[in-house]
Amino acid sequence: MFGILGGSGLTSFAELEIDRREVVRTPWGEPSGPVTIGRIDGVPVAFLPRHGHGHTIPPHAINYRANLHALKALGVEGVIAVASVGGVRDDMQPGAIAVLDQMLDYTWGRDSTYFDGPERPVTHIDFTLPYDPALRERLLAVAGGEGHVLIDGGCYACMQGPRLETAAEIDRVERDGADVVGMTLMPEAALARELDLPYAALAVVVNHAAGRGDSKHSISTTEIGRVLEIAMGNVRALIVSFVRESGAHPA
Ligand code: HPA
Repeated sequence: MFGILGGSGLTSFAELEIDRREVVRTPWGEPSGPVTIGRIDGVPVAFLPRHGHGHTIPPHAINYRANLHALKALGVEGVIAVASVGGVRDDMQPGAIAVLDQMLDYTWGRDSTYFDGPERPVTHIDFTLPYDPALRERLLAVAGGEGHVLIDGGCYACMQGPRLETAAEIDRVERDGADVVGMTLMPEAALARELDLPYAALAVVVNHAAGRGDSKHSISTTEIGRVLEIAMGNVRALIVSFVRESGAHPA
């Protein structure tokens, strides 16, 4: 079964024929909400909006451990994470969609591993490539074949939020190598790796990062909303193509 983790602007998935909603209890507490389970073209898919169905959970308060554990427990074998981002690199313009390939983590105070507690051995996962290379390649191949325009690669800087950044912070993350900024893919991606769950991420650029482009002085949330709506329609179309092409083989 495919897992889809939706972000801002993707709290429901119209193309999913819903079979049921499942409340999953986990040793790590409550996920962001019930998981919606259904089918796209007959292929089973589990959908979980990480901010909750009503978009009420801020990035630092998301129970990432419970979310990933719940998807794994339901039999999910591959996760596509969708995240809205601010564009740092010049070609990361509002409306662009990137299949990320790297990550910088600036978050703090989030529960970021399953390997803590007295009875769990200290474990250091390999995270050289934070997204599953095979899943990335397949997403790019399907997109190319169906005429969806995707940017191949991008380094995501995960910020603590919930506030947006200062212009100086964006200059700093750019010097560090970031192409886009968001608030939610860490520790999510690392937890997926700890569970051995193939995970790839689609970053949807919804605004120029602080101090860039036409957001020299401020970022307009009205503008973000407008771009989000159009871009998430494109993301859903891409995911539908991907699920259809992959059949029952997420990973
Ligand atoms: N910064 C951080 N997270 C974001 C942004 C941004 O500019 N846009 C959407 N998510």
